[in-house]
Amino acid sequence: MVKDRMKSVYVCENCGYESPRWLGRCPVCGAWNSFKEVSSERKKGEGRSWLSGGGERSTRVKLSQVRGEERGRVATGIKEFDRVIGGGIPEGAFILIGGDPGIGKSTLLLQVASRLAGPGRKVLYVTGEESLSQLREKGERLGIDLNGIEALAEADLERILEVASEFSPDYLFVDSIQTVYHPSLQSIPGTVSQVRECGAELLRFAKRTGCTVIIVGHVTKDGTLAGPRTLEHMVDAVLFFEGERTSGLRILRSIKNRFGSVDEIGVFEMGDRGLVEVENPSFLFISEERRERTGVALTALLEGVRPLLVEVQALVLSSPFAVPQRTATGYDVKRLSMLLAVLEKRTGLLLRKSDVFINVTGGIRINESAADLGVAVAIVSSRKKKPLSGTDLFVGEVGLGGEIRPVRGLAQRLREARRMGMKRAFVPAGSKIDGDPGIEIVGINDINEVIEICVG
Ligand code: TYD
Ligand code: MG
Repeated sequence: MVKDRMKSVYVCENCGYESPRWLGRCPVCGAWNSFKEVSSERKKGEGRSWLSGGGERSTRVKLSQVRGEERGRVATGIKEFDRVIGGGIPEGAFILIGGDPGIGKSTLLLQVASRLAGPGRKVLYVTGEESLSQLREKGERLGIDLNGIEALAEADLERILEVASEFSPDYLFVDSIQTVYHPSLQSIPGTVSQVRECGAELLRFAKRTGCTVIIVGHVTKDGTLAGPRTLEHMVDAVLFFEGERTSGLRILRSIKNRFGSVDEIGVFEMGDRGLVEVENPSFLFISEERRERTGVALTALLEGVRPLLVEVQALVLSSPFAVPQRTATGYDVKRLSMLLAVLEKRTGLLLRKSDVFINVTGGIRINESAADLGVAVAIVSSRKKKPLSGTDLFVGEVGLGGEIRPVRGLAQRLREARRMGMKRAFVPAGSKIDGDPGIEIVGINDINEVIEICVG
C-alpha cells in the first residue's frame, strides 16, 4: 500500500500535541524527542464523533426545549468515592481514573466493582495487567464479594467490545487503557495513537449502549497523564488517585467533572485489606498531643469544601554550602523562595545563608496560598529557636510586602480548628467572621505582628 503522505501526522507522546512534521521539542509541554509518527491507518468512520454517529441527519432545535437526559446516579456506598464523583456514579458516564503505578487504582476499582455488582447490575472487569488468578487473589485479600463480577483478561479492544456487546454490562471497567490495543493500528499499546483510538472506541460504546465505562490510566513521574492525557477532553470525569508510596494515605481528587464540583477530595488509607475510608482526615495529619514545638505550625487547608488541619514543619540551619539548600516536601519550592525573600526583606531576619527544609506531615500536598502564614511562622520559629503553641492556628496569604491577605472559606477552616481543639487562630485582619467561631481570633495585617506575638 502506498503511504498516504498527506495524512501522516506526528504526535507528542507526552501531551498529545499534533504536528504535521517531526519536532525535536514539543512546543506545548516542552518534552524532548517525544514526537512519534502516527501513520494514517485511520479506519472509515474514525474521528466521527459519537454525537453524530447514529447515522441520522442532525437538525437544529431550540436549546430551551431540549429534553434533559434523566441520568440516574448510583452510589457505591464508598462515601469518599461517591462524594468525589458528585454523589454517586451517573449512569452511562465515561470516567478516567489516573495515578502512579502501584498507588492502588486496581484496588479501588475492584472495591467499587464489588459494591456495584448486584441484582440488576452487571459488571464486567477487564484486566490487561493482572491475570485472572491474581485478580481473584486480590479480591479475596480485600475480603469483598466477588460473586457478581464477571472478569475478562484481554488486551485486544475488538475482542473486549465483542464480549461486552454480547454480555451488555451496566458497568465496564478497563484496567488499564495503556495495556489495551486496537488491532487495526500498528503502534504498540500505550502509545498516544493506541490510547486515543481505544479511548474513542470505548466512548462510542458507552454512549451507544448506555453502559458506564471506567478506565484506568497510569501516569508518568512528572504527574501528567501521558497518553491518557489525550483522553481528558473526551471523558466525562477525570479522577486522580495520589499519595506517597511510603505512607498509606491516598487521596482521590477530581480534576474534571461534568457531573459535579472539581475540588472535592476523598481520603483513604491503604491497609492490609485494601482501601479504608478516612472520614476524619485531620486526625491523620496532625499529631495528637498539642504541645509546644519549635518549627512546627498548624494551618487549615480547604480541599473543595472540606477543611483539613495540617502540620507544617520547618528546619532552618546555617548552611555549609555557598548556595544554601531549599527543600520542600508537600510544598512548592518556588513559593518557599518567595516567602524566604519576603521574610528577609520585611522582618530583617537573615535567611540567605541558611538551609531551609519544609515538610508537610502526612504526605499531603499544599496547593493553596492560605497556608503561607503557617509556613512563614514555622520558618521563623525554627530560625529563632522559639517554640510555637500546639493550639495556635495560622491562616493567611503572605503578600510580597509582608501583608496578610484574605483567604476563602475562613469559617469552615475555623470550625475545623475548633473541632480539633485549637484555642487561637491568627487570621487576616478584617476577615468577616459570622457568629461565634468558638476560638480566640487574632486579626493581623502584617507578618511582623504575628511574629511579635508568637515568636518575638
Ligand atoms: P494496585 O491497586 O495494584 O495499584 P495500581 O493498580 O494503581 O497499580 O495496588 C498496588 C499496591 O497496593 C501494592 O503495592 C500492594 C498494595 N496493597 C495493599 O497494601 N493492600 C491491599 O489490600 C492491596 C490489594 C494492595
Ligand atoms: Mg493496577
